[in-house]
Amino acid sequence: MTPPTHFEVTYRINPWMDPTVEVDTALALRQWNVLRETYVQLGHSVSEVPPVPGLPDMVYAANGGLVVGGVAIAAAFRHPQRQPEGAAYAAWMNSAGLGPVRTVSGINEGEGDFLVVGDRILAGTGFRTDQQTHRQVAQLTGLPVVSLELVDPRYYHLDTALGVLDDDTITYFPDAFSADAQRVLADLYPTAVRANDADAAVLGLNLVSDGVNVVMTDAAPHLAALLTAAGFNPIGVDLSELLKGGGGVKCCTLELRKAGVTS
Ligand code: ARG
Repeated sequence: MTPPTHFEVTYRINPWMDPTVEVDTALALRQWNVLRETYVQLGHSVSEVPPVPGLPDMVYAANGGLVVGGVAIAAAFRHPQRQPEGAAYAAWMNSAGLGPVRTVSGINEGEGDFLVVGDRILAGTGFRTDQQTHRQVAQLTGLPVVSLELVDPRYYHLDTALGVLDDDTITYFPDAFSADAQRVLADLYPTAVRANDADAAVLGLNLVSDGVNVVMTDAAPHLAALLTAAGFNPIGVDLSELLKGGGGVKCCTLELRKAGVTS
């Protein structure tokens, strides 16, 4: 996780961002600390990536790369405003002993668009990550990668429209996906929890689950009730300031997986 020390909204690269809206950076930091503390209380260990001045979106650590099965893959960002984050995260992954950091050719925004579900990776495309990188990620990780096309600009990264609950279960907002992608998801995950428009519109799907506890926004009561009914334990947090940049719980969290462990 990267603290939002330098968080602000000064440019607009997704529909959530409005540079005329004021951001309370101190509040963002307090809210982020609650998220960090929530993970610690659940027994996770959290590493902090040093924030870089001038890179306000660096708080969205999920975009910094993909680490799975002992393979660390660097991100390459679409927008010039975020491009320097690629090197910053790659340097951090090397210094954390996760390297050698691999690269793929084409734009890829890390765990924003690559979500590990058990022994499979679901991969988004349409707004940020180039589809050509999906195949390369499959080669590097040895895991099958399923490409899913996103069609709604509000849900520009896969992790804004789909959340991984455990090795076999996902939750998603079907309307964010192309008709083909909707068919693929329905086939692969017939028991998935389907979120509605209101759940998606507060980035309710942008969640982190350990298979039981689901850390998510506290602003999606409908989705939280569905998750409870499905046997999960939703834990709500308030990340209202970071929502102004178009990100939520999952965006702030790059999950590190040990070799041989995919989830
Ligand atoms: N402002 C950032 C962007 O548009 C938000 C990234 C959110 N991260 C995520 N994993 N969806 O790139």
